[in-house]
Amino acid sequence: MEKINIFCPATIANVSCGFDVLGLCLEQVGDIMTISKSSEPGIRIKRISGQDLPLQPDRNVAGIAAMALLECTGSEQGFEIEIEKRIKPGSGIGSSAASAAGAVFGINSLLGSPFSTSELIPFAMKGEELASGVPHADNVAPALLGGFSLVRSYDPLDVITLPVPDDLYVTVIHPQIELKTADSRAVLKKTVPLSHAIRQWGNLAGLVSGLYENDYDRIAASLQDVIIEPLRGPLIPGFSELKQIASEGGALGSGISGSGPSVFALSRGKKTAQAVAELMNVFYRKLDVAFEIHVSAISAKGTHII
Ligand code: HSE
Repeated sequence: MEKINIFCPATIANVSCGFDVLGLCLEQVGDIMTISKSSEPGIRIKRISGQDLPLQPDRNVAGIAAMALLECTGSEQGFEIEIEKRIKPGSGIGSSAASAAGAVFGINSLLGSPFSTSELIPFAMKGEELASGVPHADNVAPALLGGFSLVRSYDPLDVITLPVPDDLYVTVIHPQIELKTADSRAVLKKTVPLSHAIRQWGNLAGLVSGLYENDYDRIAASLQDVIIEPLRGPLIPGFSELKQIASEGGALGSGISGSGPSVFALSRGKKTAQAVAELMNVFYRKLDVAFEIHVSAISAKGTHII
């Protein structure tokens, strides 16, 4: 293979109760990346369409992740990257993760897959570090692996792929304001009251158990965030109304997608997810903020060649 096209999926990190440790991969939303072998060694980003992002590899999340991978292989092979950026940076649906995951997945494939897909996670995390100052894995892991990823431990890195109940669908509304992950992390407190931690880890364990047992009631009961959401919610126009609407529309639960401003809802069945989307649409049209809404299944595939 000399050249490949890759689908780089959007992701929803945290999923309410799993700050920095849980994320899921969307099926229908993502970027397209083309990676070609080049006779010149090193990484070059030839073109980015759709967004105004730096082409210098050391200032671009795809470039940084690709360079980290290439350096580790010791390969002299050069690569050119073209990105059709459909996920807006600062959207909260894993824009930087999609680029970082796509770059490392594509280059690894063109090198004959010296690394397994899981082994690519630390390289993709370098992109997240450039984007937000923190090498969190809750977007890049599901972007690469698909489904739900649980980061059980960062040191050493241990990522577990969780089962996805067949009928689980996502509605995500993206208010077109930029909220940088670094800014959205700056509002968080460094300490957590024990009573909040108890509720949060109970919910996270409950959600994981609900996924394993296809128990939609338990999933619904567990989609609560008592630690992060109260601090970040006020940064998102209409956040509490969106939650109320999701609940009235029959969603299992809702919350901030990653660091926001996108808001997600999980529903049982595509019809309910679409009904929630329609209600969100009606409400958000009343606000003076442009927005996009997506309804998506959860991808079992993650980043893949197209
Ligand atoms: N876990 C990260 C955060 C995800 O919430 O800051 C960023 O998309």
